[in-house]
Amino acid sequence: MKPARLSVKLGVTITAMSAVLVLLMAAFALAAIWRQLDIQARDGLTDKMAQVQHSLAEGSASIADIVLHPHNLRDQIIGHDNLTLVIMDSANPRKRLLTLGDQESTELPIPDPGSPVLEFQEVRSAEGHETLMAYQLMRLKSGQPILVMLTLDRKSDYTLLSAYVKSTLIALPLILLLVGGCAWWLVHRGLKPLRALSQVAESVSARDLSQRMKVQGLPEELSDLAHAVNFMLHRLDSDVQQLAQFSDDLAHELRTPMNNLMGTAQVTLSRERAPQEYRQVLESCTEELERLSRMVSQMLFLASVSQPSAPLTFSDVALHEEAARVAELFAVTADEKALSIALRGEATVSGDKLMIQRAISNLLSNAIRHGTSGSTVTLELSATADEVTLAVANTGEDIESRHLPHLFERFYRVNPGHARQQGGTGLGLAIVRSIMSLHEGRVTVESEPGRLTTFGLVFPRLA
Ligand SMILES: Nc1ncnc2c1ncn2[C@@H]1O[C@H](COP(=O)(O)OP(=O)(O)OP(=O)(O)O)[C@@H](O)[C@H]1O
Ligand SMILES: [Mg+2]
Repeated sequence: MKPARLSVKLGVTITAMSAVLVLLMAAFALAAIWRQLDIQARDGLTDKMAQVQHSLAEGSASIADIVLHPHNLRDQIIGHDNLTLVIMDSANPRKRLLTLGDQESTELPIPDPGSPVLEFQEVRSAEGHETLMAYQLMRLKSGQPILVMLTLDRKSDYTLLSAYVKSTLIALPLILLLVGGCAWWLVHRGLKPLRALSQVAESVSARDLSQRMKVQGLPEELSDLAHAVNFMLHRLDSDVQQLAQFSDDLAHELRTPMNNLMGTAQVTLSRERAPQEYRQVLESCTEELERLSRMVSQMLFLASVSQPSAPLTFSDVALHEEAARVAELFAVTADEKALSIALRGEATVSGDKLMIQRAISNLLSNAIRHGTSGSTVTLELSATADEVTLAVANTGEDIESRHLPHLFERFYRVNPGHARQQGGTGLGLAIVRSIMSLHEGRVTVESEPGRLTTFGLVFPRLA
């Protein structure tokens, strides 16, 4: 089943709650009105009874007086359509001495006549009306006891109450319609930004990640969401752009050596050649293929460093030992350029030994490649309160400052043609940066016009 729309769901829920609320309030009001009417009726009967008592005490000496001169008593109930006065002989309660008022013919239950205190009883009259009866035992001047009953027909009270219930029942659907409509409208309006969000989401694709949600004028809860979505789109956008840039660069990087290889092979095959020539061509092709294979393995390594498949387990690494080990590996290459390698300082960091070795060797190979013959390449360890730095410095052609921000990007070379000739893939520094970010550190570069170029591996200090 299709889930109901949020606006409809909320509208219906609020309507149901309002219905319960309105009905409860109406019931309370009904009870309060009824109580008030009851109090009024009893007060009215009490007053009237006191007047009757007064009039009997003043005017009627005996039962005969009551029967022969009832006008005093009639005055008491004149103008009160809903009042009936019945006087009975208390010795013979079945015998009515006098009946005055609206329900002269009404059969009333005969109460127990023993009490001189005013009592009330609710009875239903023969016509089916709810009636409140007050009765009291009184004595005439002669001392003769009589039973006085005063009944109030409450038809008008019931009419009032039923009018109230009727109007509530008529108003209820209208109120609910209004409440439900308003609730639906409010929710529908409140959800407008979400519809805008889904529109943005629909128009976003890998081709176009430039869409952003409007944050202005949004309520706080939704503006947080909009910010988060915009931030996510921004990150996706830059990731996708990077990916596109990377595949562009990759295709470009692979095309040149492949074209070279193909051209060389085709030219060589175009005619018969001496075995010596074939050998030379194969050697140069092998060199190019070696560079290509190095590039592929560098790329694979870079991918594994950027997105490690499993969390790395770090151990304590003595940086000076690793630097010495790498320097030893490069001793022959340095010798060929008449370069010496100097190592100063000691420090230990937490990290992955092989990765740290790789970072140092990438920097050292660059320093040797770009160092002037006869100079010294230095590896210097230093520490501050929170950081340990391994600086690799060489003298040689300085790097112009406009290149510095891009140096750690994949395939970026200061002098592409020259770097390629020297077998560089342009991935060495990108790998160094990824390794350092895995270690929560960073890599720095400074190149002075005095021709000292220094790269620094900065590690956070051991906790
Ligand atoms: N010590 C340095 N002195 C001068 N330029 C440098 C130095 N180190 C790096 N560079 C410049 O930075 C560029 C990028 O270096 P990177 O190590 O990433 O690539 P590469 O050395 O060309 O290739 P690979 O490291 O794969 O052999 C180099 O091409 C070079 O122009
Ligand atoms: Mg390099």
